[in-house]
Amino acid sequence: MSLSSVVSELRAAGCVFAEDEARLILATAKSPAELRRMVGERVAGLPLEHVLGWARFRGLCVLVDPGVFVPRRRTEFLAGEAIARARPGSVVVDLCCGTGAVGAAVAAEVPGVLLYATDIDPAAVACARRNLPEARIQQGDLYQALPLCLRGRIDVLVANCPYVPTEEVDLLPPEARLHEPLVALDGGEDGLELIRRVIRLAPEWLAPGGSVLVETSDEQAASACTALLKAGLEPSITSSEELDATVIVGQMPIR
Ligand SMILES: C[S@@+](CC[C@H](N)C(=O)[O-])C[C@H]1O[C@@H](n2cnc3c(N)ncnc32)[C@H](O)[C@@H]1O
Repeated sequence: MSLSSVVSELRAAGCVFAEDEARLILATAKSPAELRRMVGERVAGLPLEHVLGWARFRGLCVLVDPGVFVPRRRTEFLAGEAIARARPGSVVVDLCCGTGAVGAAVAAEVPGVLLYATDIDPAAVACARRNLPEARIQQGDLYQALPLCLRGRIDVLVANCPYVPTEEVDLLPPEARLHEPLVALDGGEDGLELIRRVIRLAPEWLAPGGSVLVETSDEQAASACTALLKAGLEPSITSSEELDATVIVGQMPIR
């Protein structure tokens, strides 16, 4: 298939960035048969990153397996905030790691961190293991998957939990709603159920002066800060207009 025929098929299927996508598909396909399959999948509505099998994240090529949450551009801001707080030798945990994109960015930009990652979804854990060969990755519910020896030792605890309120999940674009698992999207009644659990238990796991960082919507930021205060952590809110991103940081007192 030529570039122009791929562009026409994608355009006819409603892909807004048909030309860019066609170039990426052509550059990724290793055979005419694979190219045909990829174009068919994209025309059928699969997210581009699932079709390609990879996504760009802070300049990295992150592998994205079928059925695993596609790392969002906005989350590059969360990764940047984690990177700003990590040092060589820091213990860094990527909770709810999905593909492991956030952890991968931290490890790439701060060499020498000790990286741990967890996710409840076995498909995500398998994918993260491919992206983070140097990290210790376990499957399980939030902190339950972490070794107990990390209690009181985590310097940077970064968690991009699901935070879409349950009744808004149906309003998500079909690419997310149909091709990403509900467990990666649904954050409970007000979207903050998992985030509150992460924050409530964070003081047991953070090192003195360590930080927990979570992504929220702009509207959820104040409630997340209330949860941080309740947990005895010092809250702050950072945001990026360019990436339409909000990150809540809670710092553990030094002593
Ligand atoms: C919004 S996705 C974020 C994935 C990744 N951190 C990123 O930014 O691309 C949320 C992830 O949380 C995981 N998750 C949901 N509930 C969880 C839980 N109770 N414990 C651990 N992981 C969970 C999902 O499987 C999903 O991979």
